[in-house]
Amino acid sequence: DIPSLKDVFTGDFLFGAAFENFELIEAADRQLLTKHFNSLTPGNVLKWDSTQPQEGEFNFEPSDQAVQFALDNGQQVRGHTLVWHNQTPDWVFRDSNGNLASKQLLYQRMEAHINEVVGRYKGKIYAWDVVNEVIDASQPDGLLRSLWYQIAGEEYIEKAFEYAHAADPDALLFINDYNTHESAKSQALYNLISRLKAKGIPVHGVGHQTHLKINYPTMSEIDSSIAKFAALNIKQEITELDIDIYSDDSTKYDTLPDNLAQTQATRYKQLFDVLLKHKDKIDNVTVWGKDDGNSWLRSFPVNRNNWPLLFDERLQSKPAYWAIVNGKPTQ
Ligand code: G3I
Repeated sequence: DIPSLKDVFTGDFLFGAAFENFELIEAADRQLLTKHFNSLTPGNVLKWDSTQPQEGEFNFEPSDQAVQFALDNGQQVRGHTLVWHNQTPDWVFRDSNGNLASKQLLYQRMEAHINEVVGRYKGKIYAWDVVNEVIDASQPDGLLRSLWYQIAGEEYIEKAFEYAHAADPDALLFINDYNTHESAKSQALYNLISRLKAKGIPVHGVGHQTHLKINYPTMSEIDSSIAKFAALNIKQEITELDIDIYSDDSTKYDTLPDNLAQTQATRYKQLFDVLLKHKDKIDNVTVWGKDDGNSWLRSFPVNRNNWPLLFDERLQSKPAYWAIVNGKPTQ
């Protein structure tokens, strides 16, 4: 019987995984989810297209099932995500003539959505990714030109946090993004959070997605990024960790090559050294999937096998798992 990740890292941070509801069917899948993780993130069913596909028609069957599974097993739940430009139905951004909605209409819809979704899980979901992937460092103000932005400018981000805070004043509210170790991107994100905090907007934390590559970035970039955000006095969580084994889009392997399994294990170990060094700043480390079989990287950027996680498609522990478990310094 192998050690449980959540036990190994007790006192350091929560150890979480994203999951899909079909992983609640087989006992072996459920057991992996409950044995190793004390935090769960529904991978898709809390997104707008799932919870409110048509205006005013909420569908909470999948999200209720996902959240209840975690609560039944004494696990914390991260809510992902309220305001994003993907997996959001087009009606959100349109008026009855099919033109871009007015700011006022957009805010009405945003408030109704957040109120309904966050309100339903008040006291059950401890942290929300209120806005997801809003940064574009190449823009003068550092913000992505999504439809949210095109209609409402930076203010939509403030509104999202205000509505979420009103709906559940106890929930921790995060701004979540990828490549947060890149200097231009982390600076743009840092600047945004500073502006929000200066205005008294209830933003409590930054979520570092942490979708890494086998050869990128360096651990010192990740180290610096965490150290940098600490100056904002906010919580930090690793929200979507995985390590893609490919360094280009054209290679495909049938099985995970030993040398890449070892390189990946070393990178996981080095990453956890950095995370443990900053454990006073980091509350939760969540992997984006419990096993390689269902990873999003098996369909992105192309369809191919990939092995980005700690357990393989047969749910067996990989060198990456053993590297972080055995590599943990004893205290
Ligand atoms: O729900 C439909 C289903 O009705 C349909 O039959 C099926 C056929 O393709 O597609 C289903 O939708 C898929 C959805 O996942 C639910 O399984 C989409 O095609 C697929 O594109 C979608 O992928 C998700 C992706 O976000 C899309 O935005 C991944 O599962 C999910 O892991 C991924 O997660 C994101 C985070 O939210 C944000 N950060 C990056 C991360 C990885 O892309």
